[in-house]
Amino acid sequence: MIKAGELAAQALELAGKNAVAGISTWELDRIVNDYVVSKGGHSPCKGYGGFPGHNCFSVNEELIHGIPSKKKILKEGDIISCDIVAELDGYMGDNTRTFRIGGVIEETELLLRATEAALYKGIAQAVKGNRVGDISNAVQICVETAGYYVVKKYIGHGVGREMHEDPEVPNFGKPGRGPRLIPGMTIAIEPMVNQTTENVKVLDDKWTVVEGNGKMSAHFEHTVLITEGEPMILTLPTH
Ligand code: MF3
Ligand code: CO
Repeated sequence: MIKAGELAAQALELAGKNAVAGISTWELDRIVNDYVVSKGGHSPCKGYGGFPGHNCFSVNEELIHGIPSKKKILKEGDIISCDIVAELDGYMGDNTRTFRIGGVIEETELLLRATEAALYKGIAQAVKGNRVGDISNAVQICVETAGYYVVKKYIGHGVGREMHEDPEVPNFGKPGRGPRLIPGMTIAIEPMVNQTTENVKVLDDKWTVVEGNGKMSAHFEHTVLITEGEPMILTLPTH
């Protein structure tokens, strides 16, 4: 899991470096997949439930599951959520960041900061003896205090040999509820946050999930290991 997490993190880093004005999301997907394959890994999202890309690239109001497209060209002021899963030697690392393309307007910047902060609030609760609800609640409080909306229809998850394992890790809930966290568990904590509503819509492509009012949305995710001590983030790129 450590090696898979490292690969997923390096791949996400590469996506961020290449996410500049003028590039298409198809090209980003190709670059990331070529890298993962060059390191002996592969991209399990490809074909997952019929998903056509290797990874998900979601621009602006697109929250998750954006399909890589030659027609989707990034421009200055956009944001792009790159959700990258890498499999290595039978284990999965899953991570996401929303990157800025050049400068973004302040209301977008604040949304991104709140979503990333919520991820780290959640991770801080990912300790032995806590329950999943402690993570969920910490994320929810952080997002709602900042004035944004937690999307409830999609949630985080256990991750290991499969991309999606138990337990479910919602971004909302009550402290002290849900499955207990045990050392050795690996979970993907992934706040998905909308600017103006918890509602989402799925586009006609059957995949792309967008902010219900067409406003901005953000997504940050890490794969985290529960230990005897501090949570260990497996998807931090070590250089
Ligand atoms: N990476 C996403 C997650 O966190 C799943 C991608 S959906 C897929 O659960 F269809 F692209 F695989
Ligand atoms: Co995930």
